Amino acid sequence: MTKPLNIGMIGYGFMGRAHTNAYAKVNHFFDLEYRPVLKAVCARDAAKAQAFADNWGYESIETDWRALIARDDIDAVDICTPNNLHREIAIAAARAGKMILCEKPLSMNVAEGEEMCREVEKAGVANTVWYNYRRVPAVSLAKQMIEEGRLGRIFHYRAVFLQDWTISADLPQGGQALWRLDAAAAGSGVTGDLLAHCIDTALWLNGGIDNVTAMTETFIKERVHTATGQKQKVEIDDACAFLARFRNGALATFESTRYARGHKALYTLEINGEKGSLRWDLHDLHRLEYFDYANESRYRGWRSIHITDGDHPYMKHWWVPGLQIGYEHSFVHHVADFLADLAAGRPTGPTFRDALETQKVCDAVLDSARSGRWVSIT
Ligand SMILES: NC(=O)c1ccc[n+]([C@@H]2O[C@H](COP(=O)([O-])OP(=O)(O)OC[C@H]3O[C@@H](n4cnc5c(N)ncnc54)[C@H](O)[C@@H]3O)[C@@H](O)[C@H]2O)c1
Repeated sequence: MTKPLNIGMIGYGFMGRAHTNAYAKVNHFFDLEYRPVLKAVCARDAAKAQAFADNWGYESIETDWRALIARDDIDAVDICTPNNLHREIAIAAARAGKMILCEKPLSMNVAEGEEMCREVEKAGVANTVWYNYRRVPAVSLAKQMIEEGRLGRIFHYRAVFLQDWTISADLPQGGQALWRLDAAAAGSGVTGDLLAHCIDTALWLNGGIDNVTAMTETFIKERVHTATGQKQKVEIDDACAFLARFRNGALATFESTRYARGHKALYTLEINGEKGSLRWDLHDLHRLEYFDYANESRYRGWRSIHITDGDHPYMKHWWVPGLQIGYEHSFVHHVADFLADLAAGRPTGPTFRDALETQKVCDAVLDSARSGRWVSIT
């Protein structure tokens, strides 16, 4: 018999769907002590929340997230709202003794993130942040290979995250999905939205970053705000590029934009070490490219590993070798790990404290872009 874990989810947009899908699937594929129960979904519009609940199988709805947190029948609060609500919801949930699964970025800035860490640690509640790319099997395999020493000393880390959906000057700021263009809701632009993913993966794979120097640009300076119907200044970064030095001595470049015509979600990373290199591309997420310098020189070259075998991370839970999985599965893996860790009494990375490290790098990047100087990560 599995033990129920009652989920109360706040926000039912893109991530609300991705997470709910993961809760619904996880026990079919993973043998776990706990089973998520879709207890309640919260959104401000009752009719829309009810339609979502009916479609996805939630037992009930709330229209005020405070009411959801106050319920005795909720064990874990899942925060799927825009970034400006993460702090307040997480702190209230921690004080109510709820476990918390919070979307990324952890917070609007480091000060908020530190407060959130203090509160979850004081309350002693399980907490995790949905940096889901760690749990794409190819990325998890890259982590294992680095830990096995297959790349040796690391010289370079390179990551980009490119999109093109905000090029039109007619696109408003504010509202469903478009809150990303409104600094009051998002905190920052591509830095907190896209580079935060690249930074989380980089810190996980290659350790801490010492310092950064960055540049940002806002190409469209004013956009109509959905809430007021008036043109307002755009205060997010549309594009950001930064250089970084890792504590292990590696040099890094990171670039992100929503103005790279032709790219929808091109997240790529490459790591070059003394003994070999690894390369991964979100558009081909079930493959990991590997160059091994130990191979005989005549046959040396980049190989493309199809990550579908039972001995690849997470893959024994899915289909037969040769059949690949996709984006949604990274969220299923996150829930599976969270439930397994809960049973074992272990934290699930990235915890709030881990995600605070990413927040520190994001803040330093924005600080450097403003000042034009190198900024140390403290
Ligand atoms: N892990 C990832 O890859 C990933 C991808 C996309 C978004 N995100 C993060 O997930 C979060 C949500 O993003 P999204 O793309 O799902 O946005 P979205 O606009 O699709 O959905 C946001 C939801 O929050 C709800 N909401 C807003 N204010 C609310 C309030 N006061 N009370 C209750 N509900 C409220 C909205 O109604 C909507 O349902 C953000 O923090 C974002 O950065 C993470």
